[in-house]
Order: sequence, then structure tokens, then C-alpha cells
Amino acid sequence: HHRNDLSGETVLITAGGTREALDPVRFLGNRSSGKMGYALAEAAERRGARVILVSAPTALRPPANVEIVPVITTEEMRGEVINRVDQASIVIKAAAVADYRPIRQSGQKMKRQGPLTLDLEPTADILSEVVARRHPGQLIVGFAAETENAVAHGRDKLLRKGADAIVLNDVSREGIGFDSDRNAVTFLTAQTSLDLPEMTKRDLADRILEEILGLRRPQHVV
Ligand code: PMT
Repeated sequence: HHRNDLSGETVLITAGGTREALDPVRFLGNRSSGKMGYALAEAAERRGARVILVSAPTALRPPANVEIVPVITTEEMRGEVINRVDQASIVIKAAAVADYRPIRQSGQKMKRQGPLTLDLEPTADILSEVVARRHPGQLIVGFAAETENAVAHGRDKLLRKGADAIVLNDVSREGIGFDSDRNAVTFLTAQTSLDLPEMTKRDLADRILEEILGLRRPQHVV
């Protein structure tokens, strides 16, 4: 029933968890499987959009008819997103981005010798950069993974980063979120909060796209 309601749109989606190398065999990463972002890419493609999927490493099969751009680090994701974001009418940042990276990388495999302290530096905030260069009419939607006070932290993130909406995951709930085939989220805008109950990521992707299209309806335009 959604057929082609995204035709004419270019949707840029990020997915997966970025990785920051410590040495040639180790990295700092997170539990994102990429399933949520890939489900969004597949759903947007089915609905007629041109889809660009900037993907950190995942074990997933690349969706058909989607332009896939593989990246590993946050800095690579930033570069590929910034290069393409001006083409996008809708930007959805489902990736779990490494917020810190090692200040130094060891060229050789690090040896185990007593306690180890890592010196880390913050990575670039891609979502804020995308918001800073937004063009008129472009919709920008972030995700947020929270473990406590999810709605309060999500609203705060929405306002701080200036996105149109944040899709909030309470990743402290068992059986949903990271790596699961199912998820439940809260779709947050500056004025509204909508709970989307637990369902498959495939179904949820369609619900999220509906809410994103709803942002263009008059009650959301301020
Ligand atoms: O991949 P799955 O296993 O299917 O799991 C899905 C998911 C739980 C990973 C996903 O739905 C999700 O919540 N992704 C966002 C996780 C996250 O990194 O949240 P955050 O609160 O740290 O970041 C908030 C937003 O800012 C995100 O849109 C993120 O892409 C963006 N960000 C964060 C840091 C950074 N340096 N640059 C960014 O752009």
C-alpha cells in the first residue's frame, strides 16, 4: 500500500557500527548489527526512493538496487556522508557511531604486559555537521540508543543536534534493539512523542518512514 510514495526522493541512510583500530588486529566497536539501517534501506527502496546506504561493517547481505558505500571508521563515514548528503532529500542516521578513537594506533600488534590505559579522543559529530549544511526541505532524522531516562535524553539530543526527529531506542530492554530482528522505538519530534510498539525491524522500518513523511504535513511545519 506504500508503493512509490517515496519516488523522486533520495534517501541517505547510515547503518552498522563504526570501528576504531587500536592495532592491526583490534578495534573499539559497538553492538550494532546494521539490521535496523538495512531494513530502512530496503523499505525505502521498495517504496520507490533512490537509496544511498553508507554502511559500517555488518554481516548482512547488501540490499538490491541500493547504492552501498562501505566504510569502517567514523572519519570515513563522515567523509562519505558529507560527499553525498547534498543529494539527499531525506537523511536517516541509524548507524551507531564510535564516539571516541585511540589518539595513537600501534603499527604492530600490542603485546600483553600488565595494566593498559588507552588515550582516546572524540570523533566528529556527523549528525551535527549534516544539520549545519542542511538545505531547505531536507529532512534529517537521527537515532539514539539510550539505557536510562530514554525520552529525556532523546529530547535533549534532538534539540542539541537540531535534527527534525530522533528515533529513540531503549537498549536496556531485552530481546529488542542491538542485533535483534525486532525492535520498539519512540519517534520524537520537538512537539510530539509516538511509541511504536515491538515488531519486526522490517515492519518498523515502514512505520518509521511513514512518520518521516508525516514531518512534511502542516502540523509539523513551524
Ligand atoms: O544495528 P542494529 O543491531 O539493528 O541496532 C540498531 C541500533 C540500536 C544500533 C540503532 O537503531 C540505533 O539506535 N542507532 C543509533 C545508535 C547511536 O549511536 O546513538 P547515539 O545516541 O550514540 O547517537 C545519536 C545520533 O548521532 C545517531 O543518529 C548517530 O548516528 C549520530 N552520531 C553519533 C556520534 C557521532 N560522532 N556522530 C553522529 O552522527
